[in-house]
Amino acid sequence: MTAVKLFGKMNGTPIYRYTVENKNGVQLSCLSYGAAWQSLKVPVNGHLQELILSSPQIDDYVGTYHGKSVGRVAGRIGQGQYMQAGQEVSLPTNEGSTTLHGGPHGFSTLNWHGEIKNNQIIFNRHISESEDGFPGDIDVTIIFTLDDQNNVTITYTASANAETLFNPTNHVYFNLNASDTDIGNHHLTVPSSQRFKLTSKKIPTGELLDVAASYFDFRKPQLLKEMFKKAQSTPENGLDDIYYLNAHREQNLAATLSQGNIKVDVFSNRNALVVFTANDFDESLHFIGKQARPHIGIAMEAQTAPRAIVDPKFGDIRLHSGQTRQEKTRYHFTF
Ligand code: GAL
Repeated sequence: MTAVKLFGKMNGTPIYRYTVENKNGVQLSCLSYGAAWQSLKVPVNGHLQELILSSPQIDDYVGTYHGKSVGRVAGRIGQGQYMQAGQEVSLPTNEGSTTLHGGPHGFSTLNWHGEIKNNQIIFNRHISESEDGFPGDIDVTIIFTLDDQNNVTITYTASANAETLFNPTNHVYFNLNASDTDIGNHHLTVPSSQRFKLTSKKIPTGELLDVAASYFDFRKPQLLKEMFKKAQSTPENGLDDIYYLNAHREQNLAATLSQGNIKVDVFSNRNALVVFTANDFDESLHFIGKQARPHIGIAMEAQTAPRAIVDPKFGDIRLHSGQTRQEKTRYHFTF
């Protein structure tokens, strides 16, 4: 079963919903708006269960990041500024003085050209520098592949006509409960012994903090409810952190989330994972079957450490003129 449906209209522009299904009855849907992951349903006890925070209407995707493709650069760029070839580059800001998740005109705000080919949902977009405010024009392809081993693999490919940055991710939130229950009953594992120290504006510094002996330690599976209790008196009220992972050429396990018999494993070759437990969610957001509130979902965003912009020891997210860069994240589902 594959399907393309009109999902809604935004300022008169049609927004499409694309669905593919594998031989096990798993269904993956994406939206052209924000090249967004809109639904992932798996068969459980004879019915389909939604595993991600999914919204019913296009208006529910305006001004949000849930499920969206995020870029050119995921995370925060302090003062909206960075150095490129000895020159200071200024970017549009969208969180006070910070450029967050690609800024006010980032990937998540754009309508993408979509199509289905076999088991893939393919999005393409030409983004000029005048459109999103980053230097250089880029051509981006984002492909969601659903295979018969129950993997959703997202590949992000970009080429540029001038030097720019490319550090995309996807901002999907998981909730593996069938009922309207928060993620407190989920176990999370993140094989990382260090996280980045952040400034008060949540910009990563170059300092790494050990997770040992703190509630940030997920090297062994930890029940999220336990962490929420300990984080209660912090401004975050949950996780909103950048874990430092070992970067590998191969895809390594970056996180495991489980509840009962349902599990998602995230594989990445990049060196960071942002974990955000929807700490500030409120009724302004609308999800199917789940009331928006703190801890109703968890985002596990594989990316290159955002600190790489300042310090090359944390990775390279530059995209040079004529060069093509590809990044990949794989989500494996067990149910
Ligand atoms: C996360 C970020 C959070 C918040 C969220 C978007 O990646 O770490 O601080 O901005 O995105 O709602």
